[in-house]
Amino acid sequence: MMITTAKPKSGLEDTVATSSEICFLDGDRGVLAYCGYDIHDLARQATFEEVCYLLWHRRLPTRAELGDLQSQLVAARPLPEPVLRLMRALPAGDGMDVLRTLTSALGHYDPDVADQSAQANYRKAVRLTAQIASLVATMGRMGAGGGPIQPDPVLGHAANFLYMLTGERPSGLATRALDVALVLHADHELNASTFAARVAAATLTDIHSAIVAAICTLKGPLHGGANADVMRLLLEIGPGAPVEKAEDVVRAKLARKEKIPGFGHRVYHTEDPRATHLRQMSRDLGQRAGQPIWYEMSQRIEALVKSEKKLNPNVDFYSASTYYALGIAIDLFTPIFAVSRVSGWTAHVLEQYANNRLIRPRAEYVGPQYPQCYVPLDAG
Ligand SMILES: CC(C)(COP(=O)(O)OP(=O)(O)OC[C@H]1O[C@@H](n2cnc3c(N)ncnc32)[C@H](O)[C@@H]1OP(=O)(O)O)[C@@H](O)C(=O)NCCC(=O)NCCS
Repeated sequence: MMITTAKPKSGLEDTVATSSEICFLDGDRGVLAYCGYDIHDLARQATFEEVCYLLWHRRLPTRAELGDLQSQLVAARPLPEPVLRLMRALPAGDGMDVLRTLTSALGHYDPDVADQSAQANYRKAVRLTAQIASLVATMGRMGAGGGPIQPDPVLGHAANFLYMLTGERPSGLATRALDVALVLHADHELNASTFAARVAAATLTDIHSAIVAAICTLKGPLHGGANADVMRLLLEIGPGAPVEKAEDVVRAKLARKEKIPGFGHRVYHTEDPRATHLRQMSRDLGQRAGQPIWYEMSQRIEALVKSEKKLNPNVDFYSASTYYALGIAIDLFTPIFAVSRVSGWTAHVLEQYANNRLIRPRAEYVGPQYPQCYVPLDAG
C-alpha cells in the first residue's frame, strides 16, 4: 500500500509521538511538572528518592514506602567486582564513553537479567538508578587517582554520591545542592535520550539495553553534553580575565555563527524553569567556594545572548558553574546528568513495556526516482 504522509517537521518539532503519564511540559508558560507536581515545589521540598518513587509510581510515597525504596537503593549500590575490574582496565577517555560501556557491563551481572517480568524490570530500574550513581562517583574517584570508596548505607542518594566521589562526608549545603540538581534533571518528557530509550524498549529489548541507548544519546553536545561545553567556555574565557572578556568571546562566537552551549531549547519559549533554580545555586555555591567569578561571567553571557539572540539559558547553563563550585571534574558533568535522568528513562521504559507497540515511523522518500535501471558492473 502506498502511504502519503504530510511533510514531517524538521527534527520532529512539536510532533506528539506518544502518550505518557509521567511529565507535563508547557513551553509557552515555562511549566514543567512530574506527574502533576510542579518542578518548583519539588525542587524546593522533595528529595531525589521521592522523585524516583513519583516517576515510577505516579504518586508520592508514604514515609514507609519511601523508606522501602531507600533500602532497595542502598542494597543495590555496591558495584559488581568484574565491573570495577573493567573500569580499571578501560583506557582513560570521555566520561560518557566509560559510563556507556560500564552500564552495558552491569547488565551481565544483574540477577534478573533473563527475567522480563514487570516486577523484575522494576527491580532493574531501582538497581540501575543506584548503580549508575556508584559508577559515576567511582569513575570520578579513580580519575582523580583514588581507590573506590564503599557506599555508606546511612547516607541518602545525593550525599552518598558525593561521599563515594570524594571520600569525605559532604556538607549539608553540598548535599542539598546536588539533590536539587538531581530532582531538576530527573525527567523531561520526550527529550532525545528518553525517546531513544522508548524506541529501544518498544522492540522489547531489555531495560539495560534501552538505558545504554539513552546514555549514547545524552552524550551529544546538543543534549546533555552541553553542560561540560559551558564550563569549557567559561574556562576558555579564564578565571583571571575581566568579566567583560566573557562578552567579547561570546560576541565573536555569535559573529562566527557558532552556537553558545547552554542556550536555546526546542520546547521552552520562555525561561527554562530548571534554570531558575540552578542560577541561584550557582550564585550561592560560587560565593561559598570563594569563586564568584563563574557566576558573574555566566550572568554577563546570559544578558548578552538574551539581547543579541533572544535566547534563554537552559538547564545546562547554570548547572555547569554549580557542579564546578561543588568541586566536580568537568568530565563528570554529563555523567551526573545521567545519574539523575536514569530515573526518568527507566520510568518511561516501564511505561512503554506496560502498553507496548513497536515504534516504527515512516520517512518521506526524497532519493532518486523509482525505478532506476540496474546495470551489472560486468555489463559495462
Ligand atoms: C537546544 C537546541 C539543540 C535546540 O535546537 P533547535 O530547536 O533545533 O533550534 P535550532 O538549532 O534550529 O536553532 C534555531 C535558531 O536559533 C539559533 N540558536 C539556537 N540555539 C543557539 C545557541 N545556543 N547559540 C546561538 N544560536 C542558537 C540557531 O542558530 C538558529 O538560528 P537561525 O534560525 O538564524 O539559523 C539548540 O538551541 C542548541 O543547539 N543549543 C546549544 C546546545 C545546548 O545547550 N543543548 C542543551 C539543550 S537542553
